[in-house]
Amino acid sequence: MSILLIAQNRDMKPVRDTLLREDPDLEVELWPAVRNPGAVQFAIAWNQPGEVFRQFPNLKAVSSFGAGADHLLSDPAIPPHIDILRLETDSIDRQMADYVEGACLQILRSFSQYMRQQMRGEWNQLPHTTREHLTIGILGLGRIGSLTARELANSGWNVSGWARSEKSLEGVRTFHGASELSGFLSATRILVCLLPLTNETEGILNLELFKKLKRPAHLINAGRGAHLVEEDLIYALDTGILQSATLDVFLEEPLPDTHPFWNRERVTITPHIAAITEPEDVAGQIVENYKRVISGMKPLHVIDRSRGY
Ligand code: GLV
Repeated sequence: MSILLIAQNRDMKPVRDTLLREDPDLEVELWPAVRNPGAVQFAIAWNQPGEVFRQFPNLKAVSSFGAGADHLLSDPAIPPHIDILRLETDSIDRQMADYVEGACLQILRSFSQYMRQQMRGEWNQLPHTTREHLTIGILGLGRIGSLTARELANSGWNVSGWARSEKSLEGVRTFHGASELSGFLSATRILVCLLPLTNETEGILNLELFKKLKRPAHLINAGRGAHLVEEDLIYALDTGILQSATLDVFLEEPLPDTHPFWNRERVTITPHIAAITEPEDVAGQIVENYKRVISGMKPLHVIDRSRGY
């Protein structure tokens, strides 16, 4: 019996070493040099290559190495009877709240523009606004979205949130369902996407939605690249529907060298770092889930495949 660690573009050796410190008796396989594919019962995967899961006939569950599991839910090589899990940690929630608050403060105090002015040696005071005029609207009030909304509200921002089903959060004005989306958008100046990627949310950040925001509006996308219709963002920026976009996730990652986002002054790009999974934070959770899986117990944080999160 073993745990398989599998990722492209991420070195999983530190994860293996941390798991072995947590439990030295574990059998941990590191893709692609898997010694005994038949013994693999549990896998941790990030950005896995297509078809790879067909090599492990005795797999019982696969966990994402992050909070999102869309890369597993959309993988046809993972049979429907296999449990798909996500990681849930306070550190991931906190990092995301910090990222969003940092991006909101950047918008409030124009740090990006001042940075560019500095590079040009330019002393120029830009128009000033206050946080009361910048209502933040958070799309997605799961565990990460809720913490982010609460933290922003505690820091004195006007915050509202939208989710598929009804939620109640202290200090946050909440909206739910398709019928309340337009009302949510019409009061929002900084739109933050923290949704899971599902069939329903793919392409949700499109021109029609941007037009419903209170102007001048800003976008922060730390969900998934496929939430955003990229050409609609370019049009919205060029026509003043949106004033700026802060993007951590992209349809293609790494963002290709020739991508038009790179050269846009109003686009701030970060390389998918809004919430990084640290091996020390998740080793205990991974080992517990592995033990649950091999002893036939229900693992923690199983994704509901019908909802997609
Ligand atoms: C990062 O994108 C994650 O899903 O944790």
